[in-house]
Amino acid sequence: MKKGKKGNGHKNLKKFWKLGIRDFNTHYFDINANDHLTVKEGNYQYDLIQLVKKYGSPTEIFFPYILEERLEELINLFNSYIKISRYPGKFFYHYPMKVNQNKEFILPLVTEGANLETGSANELRLVQKMWNRGNLNKKIKVLCNGPKTKEYLDLITELKKQNLDIIPIIEDTHEYNYLAKYRGNVGIRLDVDARVSSHWDRTVDRFGLSEQEIKRLGKIKNLKVLHYHIGSQIETLSDILKPIRKSMEVYAQLKKINPSLDTLDIGGGMPIPYDRKYKYSVDTLIKDIIKFISHFCEKNSITPPNIACEWGRYIVAPAQVTIYRVICEKEIAKSKRKWYVIDGSFMNDLLDTWAIHQKWHVVPANYMNSRQRVQTWLAGMSCDSDDKYTGQQSYVLLPQLPEETEGEDSLYLAIFDSGAYQDALASHHCLLSSPVKLLANNAEIKIIRRKETADDVARLFGW
Ligand SMILES: Cc1ncc(COP(=O)(O)O)c(C=O)c1O
Repeated sequence: MKKGKKGNGHKNLKKFWKLGIRDFNTHYFDINANDHLTVKEGNYQYDLIQLVKKYGSPTEIFFPYILEERLEELINLFNSYIKISRYPGKFFYHYPMKVNQNKEFILPLVTEGANLETGSANELRLVQKMWNRGNLNKKIKVLCNGPKTKEYLDLITELKKQNLDIIPIIEDTHEYNYLAKYRGNVGIRLDVDARVSSHWDRTVDRFGLSEQEIKRLGKIKNLKVLHYHIGSQIETLSDILKPIRKSMEVYAQLKKINPSLDTLDIGGGMPIPYDRKYKYSVDTLIKDIIKFISHFCEKNSITPPNIACEWGRYIVAPAQVTIYRVICEKEIAKSKRKWYVIDGSFMNDLLDTWAIHQKWHVVPANYMNSRQRVQTWLAGMSCDSDDKYTGQQSYVLLPQLPEETEGEDSLYLAIFDSGAYQDALASHHCLLSSPVKLLANNAEIKIIRRKETADDVARLFGW
């Protein structure tokens, strides 16, 4: 294959592969003189092909500075709109640990000022570990969501006694009763009565209490936070604002009998433009949230609440790229498309492909200038017919395979935005090994999880 035309050629190529576009989170990506995909850190750039050649594939490459930049930007945006509009409340970002529990992801977020949100006793144990080691300063706030077992509730009580600023968010009446003797502040989760378009099954939502159920509780001792989480990947601005309006109506009612209530936690839901569908920017959204709550509070003569959010995917997904090698191609009967078989598995490593039909941004990591392109469907290595990615019944455009598919010159492809949820969902269908995970920061590469060996995987199954 021919080497790429430089200069303007690369400008067009970048446009073709949708790189360098902030709205798509691809402004970190570029193409170098070898037609390889690169990731920029300031004026340094990582050549992803050099990395896979050195560390093998499949590879997950994590860039902590991307995560840090995104969080810093988000906190700054909230704080500057709060300042500009003289909003009297504060903003608190709580990182939902379920989105990615790897230590290497959580620590940079905490150092950047994130508070935490847990969804289980086991996640709270990680907080306990950091707290006991003295690694968390006393300003950090922890919100505890999720259905709570006795172990979870007892751990909350224990950490409260150790002066951690921790708030259990009551999910149901059993938790409410259990926490009757709890000494600290509590929150309550509202099953908010609003329909939005998102990755969440609203017809059978089982989380939180309805407005009527909360009303029946009367005064709630030490109530501080009203929380809701209505879904992930919320696609329109109005769908983000709708539950805020509903929950502020409940907030105003609750505030009358619970003067200690002072925070609205709007949960997660800020999307990643995986499929380029949604059309709003985070700036507009934050401005509109603050404007709406200010007006509402003025109209209803209540003090505007502090605002907490738990946007997980938005912060974390763009900080990781997954790279696979194409090991062969196969004909697809009665179609001009071809299967490209990769050296990993969608079902194991990128489970959302199967679970929520995620649309990924896929680009070649080399041969980016090849003009001979093929409409492909990508096949994973497990034996399952669902282990595939078809671009949502469409196709993935990739360069024609080089003659050499085994060695150095094989075609590699990169899947963007793989940093959220995929690790905790990962599995071992057909006993395939999980990819190596690299951390790239300050121009250095560290292996943070080596590729599992056959023995590692076998051990998981008692061998
Ligand atoms: C309670 C709660 N908060 C926050 C989140 C994070 O959502 P997202 O990653 O869509 O922002 C979730 C995800 O399911 C959740 O259940």
